[in-house]
Amino acid sequence: MNKVTTLNQFIIEQQAHVPQATGGFSGLLHHVGIAAKKVNREVNKAGLVDILGRAGVENIQGEDQQKLDVYANETFIGELKASGECCAVASEENQDIIVFDEGLSRDGKYIFCMDPLDGSSNIDVNVSIGTIFSVYRRKSPLGEVAKLDDFLQKGCKQVAAGYVIYGSSTMLVYTAGNGVNGFTLDPSIGEFCLSHPDIKTPEDGTIYSINEGNYEKFPVGVKKYIKYCQETDKKTDRPYTSRYIGSLVADFHRNLLKGGIFIYPETKTHPNGKLRLLYECNPIAFIAEQAGGVASDGERRILELMPESIHQRIPFYVGSKNMMRKITEFLKFFNNI
Ligand code: AHG
Ligand code: MN
Ligand code: MN
Repeated sequence: MNKVTTLNQFIIEQQAHVPQATGGFSGLLHHVGIAAKKVNREVNKAGLVDILGRAGVENIQGEDQQKLDVYANETFIGELKASGECCAVASEENQDIIVFDEGLSRDGKYIFCMDPLDGSSNIDVNVSIGTIFSVYRRKSPLGEVAKLDDFLQKGCKQVAAGYVIYGSSTMLVYTAGNGVNGFTLDPSIGEFCLSHPDIKTPEDGTIYSINEGNYEKFPVGVKKYIKYCQETDKKTDRPYTSRYIGSLVADFHRNLLKGGIFIYPETKTHPNGKLRLLYECNPIAFIAEQAGGVASDGERRILELMPESIHQRIPFYVGSKNMMRKITEFLKFFNNI
């Protein structure tokens, strides 16, 4: 019989290699897994019950909050609190940080950033959506109540990052800084099972992912790069393939496995792009780098950026090493003339 490694077994085995580990981090990830399974259950039956559609309110960024957005947000917050390991959460769905200032959680070592449901415009049409998360050690001393400053840390300080993709199968992909591993949910036993050990992304890719509807507003370097992708050149396997789902998690996951580049650039109307540094770009950048890929804002490494606020947006370029090298050349050359 094939030996199956569940997420929980894997986490415990990994923890055994860390001499000072107290099990706190393992406990936190265990609860992330539970929240993911709960959200998965609701995503799966979204067409059956009255959970589809809008919740009737806007979130703090003026976007329609979908019912599943609200469910996912509350479920993750509940599990994080129950873990007793996390003292505060920053979520796309909440204006301010959520502080756990009582019980065990107050002394939790970790803070958590999340996009509880990514790609929500795809819920109603049965297209893949996800959850993105990031874990840091708190900066404030144990015994104090966590504060905003705990969240203003560079992405390179992440202890772990991951995403869940609710797709044709449901997967949890995460890194704790020691490679990237993917787990597929086996619904018959209700466990995430190691299915994609030590994921490495191809150095070359042939997929480019960008919302080309915004073409006119793109920086000239991006426009020229798109044209480069579309040119025919046998040696470099061009023209490349264009794929864009509109769920960062799903677009990134495909490119991670197959090789490709995802771009959400700055535009004339949105000089900082659309995606959020803390709970979209940083976790995805950490995973990308751990898999051998590259992530930048067009110039600077994402993981070196010091956030100024929890909902800060940033232009985002992420993908295979050689594609990222090429676009960086284009940006440098064309944006300087
Ligand atoms: P969210 O659903 O969490 O607000 O995120 C949506 C994001 C991201 O998943 C995706 O890559 C991007 O928005 C798509 O934006 P456009 O529709 O502007 O292309
Ligand atoms: Mn999102
Ligand atoms: Mn979201």
